[in-house]
Amino acid sequence: MHNNLQAIKISENVYWVGAIDWKLRDFHGYSTSHGSTYNAYLILGEKPILIDTVKAQFYEEMLARISSVIDPQNIRYLISNHSEMDHSGSIPKFIDLVHPEKIFASKLGVPTLKEHFHFNAEITAVNDEEIITLGNRSFKFIETRMIHWPESMFTYYLDEKILFSQDGFGMHFATSEIFSEQNDQCILEYEAKKYFANILLPYTSLINKLLTKLSQLNLEPTMIAPAHGPVWENQNKVRKILDLWRKWANKPFLPKAIIIYDTMWGSTENMAKMIADGINQENIDVKIMPISAVRRSDVITELLDAGALLVGSPTLNQEILPTVADVLCYIHGLKPQNLIGQIFSSYGWGNEAQKILIEYMKNMKIELIGEPIKVKYVPTEEILQNCRLLGINIAKTLKDKIGTVNDSLGWSRNR
Ligand code: FEO
Repeated sequence: MHNNLQAIKISENVYWVGAIDWKLRDFHGYSTSHGSTYNAYLILGEKPILIDTVKAQFYEEMLARISSVIDPQNIRYLISNHSEMDHSGSIPKFIDLVHPEKIFASKLGVPTLKEHFHFNAEITAVNDEEIITLGNRSFKFIETRMIHWPESMFTYYLDEKILFSQDGFGMHFATSEIFSEQNDQCILEYEAKKYFANILLPYTSLINKLLTKLSQLNLEPTMIAPAHGPVWENQNKVRKILDLWRKWANKPFLPKAIIIYDTMWGSTENMAKMIADGINQENIDVKIMPISAVRRSDVITELLDAGALLVGSPTLNQEILPTVADVLCYIHGLKPQNLIGQIFSSYGWGNEAQKILIEYMKNMKIELIGEPIKVKYVPTEEILQNCRLLGINIAKTLKDKIGTVNDSLGWSRNR
């Protein structure tokens, strides 16, 4: 079925032999509106090497692409950078077919692979910064804990200065154009940002350490080849994605507010609109995200360059609306930094939503500005004016923080 699928040559000796998942729309809760790719790479040499595999159901596609270059059974080594099954899922079948001389993974990667596949295959652990030579090709390994799992590592191919970065610098974006330049640059930047926000946001301090370490190692890669999305194919592109990661990992307070809410009979929605009007009045960018119309992964993406979050919900059966709880649960897990905010709620006879929403905001370490706003049944003109005043207060506080806190964080406003 996949007989004619081709590998794509990305350098003198390296071929992309991955799979394109055009249909993927959900990746453990992350809405992947443009699908994804699972990138595996074949390095030719005296002893051919495969870096990572693909999701299990795409095994045949990977095999066909490898077969367009060499007989897969000629591959002598497998390097597994990341054990998550979108990259390791085809390892058992690959081992059964190829019987590679050696399989390499990080020290934590060895037990993680075994705990996934319960196989007897021997896996060789490599150390952080260890260099090995396989045939006539040499590699340096770099531990990248929590990017995106504890066992993850990068493999740097020394002969051609290519950094194989598994989830790092990747994005969920299905494309048959392997080089970044061949794709729409606006979509790429948005999808890279979305990937960072939805997968890597909790690990920004580790990312900062990793970026420092990469520069101290003086690797100067001429290409970064991630496990999802296109390859960053030259030094300009490499610099661009590294700069974006540095910016996202050091998020300050930013002049943008996000309002999320769901509504039963329109009261919470009317409050959201008036708060937005107040924010807008102070010339701060504001985006209303009705939960009925957006995905949780779009909300966290917008929060990556926002400074304020406002959340609204009616009370339903002594709880908040489940749709609002869904988004808050997701955001809470991803730990966005440097946010101010407030909540607003509506009710009929018990305003439990207010207490629940405030608890969420405190757990997310969001600094509450002013007072929460509540309305019984339908807002009066006075309450709607209070909503506007809350928006103005949020916008003014944000401006103050941008002027003071960001300076103390060493963040230039022109960056
Ligand atoms: Fe693409 Fe963490 O797996």
